Amino acid sequence: ERALRVAVLGCGTVGTEVVRLLTEQAGDLTARTGARLEVVGIAVRDTTVPRADVVDTRLLTTDASGLVRDADLVIELMGGIEPARSLVLEAIEAGAGVVTANKALLAAHGPELYEAAEERGVDLYFEAAVAGAVPVVRGVRESFAGDHVRRVVGIVNGTTNFILDEMTSRGVGFGEALADAQALGYAEADPTADIDGHDAAAKIAILASLAFHTRVSIDDVPVEGIRYVTAADVEAATRGHHVIKLLAIAERRTTADGDGISVRVHPALLPLEHPLAAVHGAYNAVVVDTEAAGRLMFYGQGAGGAPTASAVLGDVVAAGRNRVSGGRGPAESRYAELPLLGGDEVTTQF
Ligand code: NDP
Ligand code: HSE
Repeated sequence: ERALRVAVLGCGTVGTEVVRLLTEQAGDLTARTGARLEVVGIAVRDTTVPRADVVDTRLLTTDASGLVRDADLVIELMGGIEPARSLVLEAIEAGAGVVTANKALLAAHGPELYEAAEERGVDLYFEAAVAGAVPVVRGVRESFAGDHVRRVVGIVNGTTNFILDEMTSRGVGFGEALADAQALGYAEADPTADIDGHDAAAKIAILASLAFHTRVSIDDVPVEGIRYVTAADVEAATRGHHVIKLLAIAERRTTADGDGISVRVHPALLPLEHPLAAVHGAYNAVVVDTEAAGRLMFYGQGAGGAPTASAVLGDVVAAGRNRVSGGRGPAESRYAELPLLGGDEVTTQF
C-alpha cells in the first residue's frame, strides 16, 4: 500500500481538528486518496503545552523546517506571515504539495507562492482560507471559469458576524461577544485582524483574484471594520428594520477609462429581507453574480476548528490524489490585469 508522508504545521484550533480527522477518518481518507496518509510530524512552538488526546505527542516538534523537507504533503496551519511563508516556499522547493488555511499569507504573498508552485509543478490548495467550510474558493475558481463574474459580495468573517449578531439579538456588549468568539475558536490569534476588517480584506482579495483572473493584494483593499459600531448603532438599525453586517465586496466596474474592479470591506446596513441579513453567528455567506449563471449564494460555517478542518481535508485528499496519479490541481489563471478603482465608488444595492 502506498503511503504519503504528511507534515502538519500548527496544532491549534484548526490543526488539532485536522489531526483528529486524519486519525479518525484514516480508512476513508486512504480509500479516497489512493494512499495511506501518514502523519510524520506536527510542528508547534512549544511541545510541552498540553494537547487534545487525539494528538500523539511523540509527533510534536519545534523543527518545522526539518519536517517540511521530508514530506510529500505539507499542511500549514500556523498562521501569520513568517515563518509560514518561508516554510511553504521550502515545502514547494522540496517538491511537496501544500495545503494552507492562511489567508493573511496568501493575500500578501500569493503571487510568489503560486509562481513557486507552478515552477516546481506541485499543488498549492487553500479552500479553508476563505469562509471556513464553505467551498467558495473552488466555486469561484472552477465553477465560473467559463462565465463572467460581475460581483462578489459576502460576509466572510465569522468573528465579526458573531459579534454583531450577539449585539443585535441578545444585547450583548462588544467586549463580551468578542471574548465568546475567541473562546469558540473563531477569532484570529490577534483578533484585531477580525475587528478591523483585515481578515475580511485578505479573503476578498483572494476571491477577487480568482473571480476576475487578476491579482489583488490585501494592500489594495480599503477597509473599515466594526470597531466603532456601537450598541446605539445596532439599536437604531433594528428600529429601522435593518441589520448591520460587515461586507466584503469585489465588483467589476466600467468607467470612462475602461474596465476595472472595485474591492473593499466596510460595515453596511441591510434590510431584514436581504439574504445576507439572515446569516447568523459565525456563519458566512458569499453571493456571486455572473453574466450567464445569474446570482448564486454560498453559505455555511465560516470559522471554527471542525468546519475549517473539513475544508483542509478536502484539499488534502485532492492534493494526495494528484500525488498518487501524477496530476496537478488548478493552476493560477491570469489573463487580465484589471485596474483597481478607488474604494469610494460604492454600490448601494447589494
Ligand atoms: P492557533 O493560534 O489556534 O494555532 C496556531 C498553531 O500554530 C499553534 O499550534 C502554534 O503552536 C503553532 N505555531 C504558531 N507559530 C509557530 C511557529 N513559529 N513555529 C511553530 N509552530 C507555530 O490558530 P488557528 O488554528 O485558529 O489558525 C491557524 C490558521 O488557520 C491561521 O492561518 C488562521 O487564519 C486560519 N484559519 C483559522 C480559522 C479558525 O476558525 N480558527 C478558520 C479559517 C482559517 P503552539 O500550539 O505551540 O502555540
Ligand atoms: N477569524 C476568522 C473568522 C477565522 O472569524 O472568520 C475564519 O477564517
